[in-house]
Amino acid sequence: MQKILDDINELMAANTDRGKVADYIPQLACVDSNQFGITVVLADGQVFSAGSSAQLFSIQSISKVFTLTMALGKIGDALWSNVGREPSGDAFNSIVQLEHEHGKPRNPFINAGAIAVVDAIMMGHQPKETLAEIVQFVRYIANDSSISIDDKVARSEVETGHRNASLAHFMASFGRIKHLVDCVLGTYYHHCSIAMNCEQLAQAGMFLALDGMHQNSTNRVVSAQRARRINSLMLMCGHYDGSGEFAYRVGLPGKSGVGGGILAIAPGKASIAVWSPGLDSVGNSKLGTEALEILVQQTGWSIFGH
Ligand code: DON
Repeated sequence: MQKILDDINELMAANTDRGKVADYIPQLACVDSNQFGITVVLADGQVFSAGSSAQLFSIQSISKVFTLTMALGKIGDALWSNVGREPSGDAFNSIVQLEHEHGKPRNPFINAGAIAVVDAIMMGHQPKETLAEIVQFVRYIANDSSISIDDKVARSEVETGHRNASLAHFMASFGRIKHLVDCVLGTYYHHCSIAMNCEQLAQAGMFLALDGMHQNSTNRVVSAQRARRINSLMLMCGHYDGSGEFAYRVGLPGKSGVGGGILAIAPGKASIAVWSPGLDSVGNSKLGTEALEILVQQTGWSIFGH
């Protein structure tokens, strides 16, 4: 495994076509696109890394996997009355479908869906309390109490979040947002701004690779059925309008973020985190996807076979 990752790291370092760093959130535009990191945690707990795997980055939409997990824990299937489970085929911040579908977002991973998920988690709490709970949960699943929010990125998102504010108010007009829109949005921006490195992120994904079990303990994070269902949502919706392409090339449940990270799960086998800030045309890490494509070719880990 170490040799595979070292080879991938070398190939990625030589790759000059690195995509484009997200610039609609000013604080993300400052990140150097010449970086790449990867970590694989095997089901037995062995950890392998290459490149800048210890470098913190903004996990952005990858956080939506964790908030979805929390929302299902709090309100269970009631979540699905306000959020769908179908791929959108649209951009992550698109508003068009919402009007046709009466303010019900297609899935929990597009921005509108993730905003509705945060609203469900808040359940009468103040944004600060909800945020503390989200960070606490991520620290628990990653086994790492140092994980925290990058306030600079959060502020940058608040200042430029007109599109998300439109989505949230539009849903509120259909009675689908229960809390003050600004409080929901603030909580959403802050959980997107959690900073993690590949090592921490791969650890955080372990419960999805282990049928819902917490790594290093006999505790359960979620039931095996729930882990399977979250994985299936990641496969179908985790890369927005690039989800089909990601399934075709990589064939693993995965969730991308505009910070350039991707969390991919090989059920029963491994949890994988890759990071490279340059994005493709639909907002998914360009080198991250290429690296995962090579990794599954080398390991045969695609859920669709060799
Ligand atoms: O709301 C936003 O636009 C960002 N906080 C998250 C978007 C994102 O990561 C989409 N992922 N590819």
